[in-house]
Amino acid sequence: MNTASIPVGSIRKSGAAARFPLDRWYVAGFSSELQDQPIGRTFLNQKVVLFRTGSGEIAALEDRCCHRSLPLSCGTVEADGVRCGYHGLLYAPSGQCLEIPGQERIPSKARVRSYRVVEKDRIVWIWMPRDEDSAPAVEPPDYPHHDDPRYKFGSGMYHYKAPWQLIHDNLLDLSHLGYVHLKTIGGNARLHMNAPMKVTQDGDTVKVVRLMPGSTPPPTYRAAWPFGDTCDRWQEIEFHVSHLAIWTGAMEPGSGAIDDPRRGGFHMRGFHGITPETEDTCHYFWSMASNKHPDMPENIDTVVEQTAYTFDEDRVVIEDQYRNIADFGDRNSWMDIHVDAGANRARRIVERLLADVRPEEVAG
Ligand code: FES
Ligand SMILES: [Fe+2]
Repeated sequence: MNTASIPVGSIRKSGAAARFPLDRWYVAGFSSELQDQPIGRTFLNQKVVLFRTGSGEIAALEDRCCHRSLPLSCGTVEADGVRCGYHGLLYAPSGQCLEIPGQERIPSKARVRSYRVVEKDRIVWIWMPRDEDSAPAVEPPDYPHHDDPRYKFGSGMYHYKAPWQLIHDNLLDLSHLGYVHLKTIGGNARLHMNAPMKVTQDGDTVKVVRLMPGSTPPPTYRAAWPFGDTCDRWQEIEFHVSHLAIWTGAMEPGSGAIDDPRRGGFHMRGFHGITPETEDTCHYFWSMASNKHPDMPENIDTVVEQTAYTFDEDRVVIEDQYRNIADFGDRNSWMDIHVDAGANRARRIVERLLADVRPEEVAG
């Protein structure tokens, strides 16, 4: 089914279309981004300003001053909140206006909508509710690898001119490595395409595992770890609706079982937070955590540098792909091949979540 054809609802109070699964945590950014400036970003068609107050608390408000609609992200951050850059109204993290310069009385409607945000594992998560007051039933997901002493990580972000699910498709199908990423993490294309793929599902989570013993170490692996002619590679991809956790790496042949979760060797732990901006665009927040080889301690810089290069390559492919989808028509005309099993599972999960819309949300 074409997701674009599914009738879905809207958050009526804000008028924002909701063609995305709601009542869940999405990635709003990385902790390191929020310093002393407000950041304006659109999530799921809703314009939001993010900022960090003087006490270190992170807040998210509707990015629109209730006086004359200037984006609050054009303002400045103060100890107690964010101040509009037009006539100086000051807003608390709750969205309540705290001060109207030159006017004593603060009208009761001097407030803007606030969003729940949680900073956890160096990631800023935002709760995108179905109704303005629907509260989270769960904590944001855990991602312990940013603070794992065995790893060091680097991060980055992209704004994509393509829908979020095209990135899910890309990350759930790493068979493309041998064609798209030959300069970094690629390797033998046929080996990638022929590697058996195990796809499992647990609730709304999909796991794809591919083991590739006897692989040729690709350039990034060689730059980071003193591999010989071959290595035993693994790829474990875990899809969640808001993000993917991808654990890839390789060991020297014969140094242990590649499906052992305590395995040694060279690790790449990728975090991929993919948050829709609109139906046609999305934010992609990534990090890569890796372990150091004692003889090559600077490897992480190379790994992060080459990861960024790798993701640039993906962006070219995905944005070209989306332009062509726009030119030739939607994905109803796609034919599937064997590598699509994981991506199609993820698409079915999102379709089910989108179809689960209350009747009053469908009309209009
Ligand atoms: S528009 Fe914000 S204070 Fe006037
Ligand atoms: Fe890729």
